[in-house]
Amino acid sequence: MAHSELTAKTGELLRAMTLEEKLGQLTMIRIDAESAGTLPAEQLTAIREGRAGSVLDLKGPDAIREVQKIALTETRLGIPLLFALDVLHGYETVFPIPLAEAAAMDPPLWHATARAAAREAAANGIALTFAPMLDVSRDPRWGRMAEGPGEDPWLASRFAEAKVRGFQGEDARSGIAATAKHFVGYGAVTAGREYGSIDISNRTLHEVYLPPFLAAVRVGAAAIMPALSDFAGLPLTAHPGLLRDLLRKRWGFEGVVISDFHAIAELITHGVAAGIAEAAALALKAGVDIDMASGAYLDGLPEALARGLVLEADIDLAVKRVLALKARLGLFDQAADSEGYSLPGEVSAEHRALAREAARKSIVLLKNRDRLLPLPKAPRRLAVAGPLADAPGEMLGPWHCAGKAEGTVSFLQGLRAALPDWELSYFGNAISGGGETIRKADLFLLCLGETANMCGEAASRARPQLPDFQRKLFEDVSALGKPVIVVLTSGRPLIDSATFEAADAVLAAWFPGSEAGTALADILTGAVNPSGKLPVSWPAEVGQIPIFFSQRRTGRPADPAIHNTSKYIDVPVEPLFPFGHGLSFTEFAYRNLRVSPGILQPGGRIAVELDIENVGALEGEETCLLFIRDAAASIARPVLELRGMAKIKLAAGAAGSVAFELTAEDLSFPADDGSLCLEPGCFEILAGPCADPEKLLCSTIHVP
Ligand code: GLC
Repeated sequence: MAHSELTAKTGELLRAMTLEEKLGQLTMIRIDAESAGTLPAEQLTAIREGRAGSVLDLKGPDAIREVQKIALTETRLGIPLLFALDVLHGYETVFPIPLAEAAAMDPPLWHATARAAAREAAANGIALTFAPMLDVSRDPRWGRMAEGPGEDPWLASRFAEAKVRGFQGEDARSGIAATAKHFVGYGAVTAGREYGSIDISNRTLHEVYLPPFLAAVRVGAAAIMPALSDFAGLPLTAHPGLLRDLLRKRWGFEGVVISDFHAIAELITHGVAAGIAEAAALALKAGVDIDMASGAYLDGLPEALARGLVLEADIDLAVKRVLALKARLGLFDQAADSEGYSLPGEVSAEHRALAREAARKSIVLLKNRDRLLPLPKAPRRLAVAGPLADAPGEMLGPWHCAGKAEGTVSFLQGLRAALPDWELSYFGNAISGGGETIRKADLFLLCLGETANMCGEAASRARPQLPDFQRKLFEDVSALGKPVIVVLTSGRPLIDSATFEAADAVLAAWFPGSEAGTALADILTGAVNPSGKLPVSWPAEVGQIPIFFSQRRTGRPADPAIHNTSKYIDVPVEPLFPFGHGLSFTEFAYRNLRVSPGILQPGGRIAVELDIENVGALEGEETCLLFIRDAAASIARPVLELRGMAKIKLAAGAAGSVAFELTAEDLSFPADDGSLCLEPGCFEILAGPCADPEKLLCSTIHVP
């Protein structure tokens, strides 16, 4: 729909609307037909009476079609509803959780899985997803690290671009609207405690937490969702400085701001609103267009209007944005009896194959003592134990949308299918009754970690480690003196250094999705060489949190040999595994870093190239990471800043090169107002497999 046509249509509608109908368009209601077992009459009445403009959590094309028909044919103006759902990493076909996909370091893959999820969701009547979640997180105590792209703002920005484009397609009509959430800084909640206060410096806000949202806005994200927390005492839901002045005025965001669940009414609980009228006025004036599930706009705005806390023009502005989004999504073109939504069968098979590929690329091989893996070709006696070994439902993670346990491949199922000639025995959570079979086992596979409800929303953990019974199981198995492989299912790094030290091999599988078992078997058997790399630093101790590679160097950088330096006296400062860590079954050598020109010319670029050789015995794919280090600036810069990632697939013995380009923007950093500034001076350019300075090649360039 052309912009002029859209403006005319929304203007015409707006003029025809009563105040209650306008407030209805700003109200999103929840219809959870699944648990209610039917379409609740109260919500259907609200729709008939024009007191709802959008619906969340309703699943199933028949139910959505039935409810949409009510809106189109039984309301005064016949404005279509917008159906929204948390389609984070798949609709029916479930892909690895976002933190896992971040480990693939693969923007085309990120785009492809979002595209597939959008196709399935749109085919089932969904028009908007509350994704991508773009909260950078450096605190594994916070359960929602699982939903996001890890610790680094540059990687999170590439993730944002790929996911928004993947969900929305070339235009929002060929996909579903994306909602970048939770704006902003939610990953920095105090002490990793869910919904806690966010209290970070303006510099950290601009350097770390805002960039992925700016990236999402730049590629046309249709919606933004503010975080439930307060930012230095002002809830994000009522923050005109960030929502109106920065997001809309500075960044030019023209989409819709949707509150988080019940967030507007919770402004009273936050202690910044005396009652529902004040809460509604604060949110509306800050720029929140849609009230998710609190009823505050319907109940509070009439009083707020009467008391002069808001103007009808404020309401009209929000309604216009909502109507424009519906028009952009093609919702007005839907006929009342629009035929069913359907997806051809072969598409589902294609999506399952994509889920397997995504899971293979997301699994990170953390340790592989004496090259225990890949498993030998000759059949062996493999004993499998642990609560996550045969738990298909757990493989889908905390936000599995319409994904179901049935049809999901568990680790055990995948292994049985891949190792038909092996003697494979399963022992649940204890090996005590294992008898002869245990004694005869050649090696053990323990599937340990978190169940889906141990991470995600409202699942902060002060001790993000293996549950005690799992550590006991590991100790019992380890005492048998046979090789032990540990596969971790989790939505965060699990901090258990003693266990990982004792294990022979450790893999982070995260929550791998519908094809969990097939992907794990592909890796363990060596059918696929692991290539995943950590998108978060993996702490050695809880006490190190928050831990991340782009720390500032301080005036006394850690030096174990010098007492008065920035370190702990009881644990190391280094993570157990650094950002970017991920082993392969082969080995790659990095050589010959070259940068040109040595001096950045105005408007110029720096070409960076280096050689990589596969010096092992198996083909593999390597991701090379590019960092910069600004040696001296007006503000102390981090010891490393990620600025690139490039993949190369090499046969055993083969060599190749990877290339990057650095621009002035890449070498700049935000001033206090967020604008980027490039300062003259010397920059180190570093490249290598991970954020361990010892493993990076280094060169320098100069900015005049
Ligand atoms: C939840 C989450 C948000 C989600 C919304 C709708 O409270 O914070 O991420 O999109 O409610 O389910």
